[in-house]
Amino acid sequence: MKRSAKTHIWHQRHANDFYVQKATKEGYRSRAAFKLMEIVDRDRLVHAGMRIVDLGSAPGGWCQIVSERLHTDGRLNGHLLAIDILPMVPVKGVEFLHGDFTDDAVLADFVARLDGHPLDLVLSDIAPNLSGILMTDQARAYDLAEMALAFAVQRLRPEGVFLIKVFQGAGFEVFLRQIRAAFKTVTTRKPKASRDESTEVYLLARGVREGVSD
Ligand SMILES: C[S@@+](CC[C@H](N)C(=O)[O-])C[C@H]1O[C@@H](n2cnc3c(N)ncnc32)[C@H](O)[C@@H]1O
Repeated sequence: MKRSAKTHIWHQRHANDFYVQKATKEGYRSRAAFKLMEIVDRDRLVHAGMRIVDLGSAPGGWCQIVSERLHTDGRLNGHLLAIDILPMVPVKGVEFLHGDFTDDAVLADFVARLDGHPLDLVLSDIAPNLSGILMTDQARAYDLAEMALAFAVQRLRPEGVFLIKVFQGAGFEVFLRQIRAAFKTVTTRKPKASRDESTEVYLLARGVREGVSD
């Protein structure tokens, strides 16, 4: 099938998608918002007063969900810092850094914004722009996932939580071993809004193992 035909089918399916329509109706910027909503609410991940980071945040669906839960009586109680290589229209209560997470100078700026405070929760939905070449895309995705894991291990408080989206396939088992070696418990989540045919899964990791951040 030609690329243009595939794109047309994707756009049609996207427009008819239940969660796309729900997102539009409820004012969320991405259908991904509902994936995070389900996990956050089921696993009680966000509480007032928390310090949270969102890696790969644009267009901002996850930020909207977290920001809503950090607001009590219309006031922000907590800190949500987000980063994306793409620009992001501001989300109420979110500090956003526009830059490349893999760039050392950008990362230093990002870390400086944490003011030395350990984090309670690190979220990562970071995903590279797809080239269409499966092996290249998977390798890039796992490079970013490993960077996100290293960041989480270094910046979380000992009982902190790390939630990351990854794709099953090449690199998955290796990454699973890495995240299990770094955290005390790792569980898998597949929220309803995640399409059955998608290989994406969410790894929920709790409690940094002693010694791994040294
Ligand atoms: C699936 S989208 C995130 C969707 C977001 N969670 C939401 O709910 O709106 C993945 C994001 O990762 C970002 N990204 C990819 N590589 C990046 C990098 N090196 N630095 C920062 N962001 C990156 C992309 O620009 C993209 O916006």
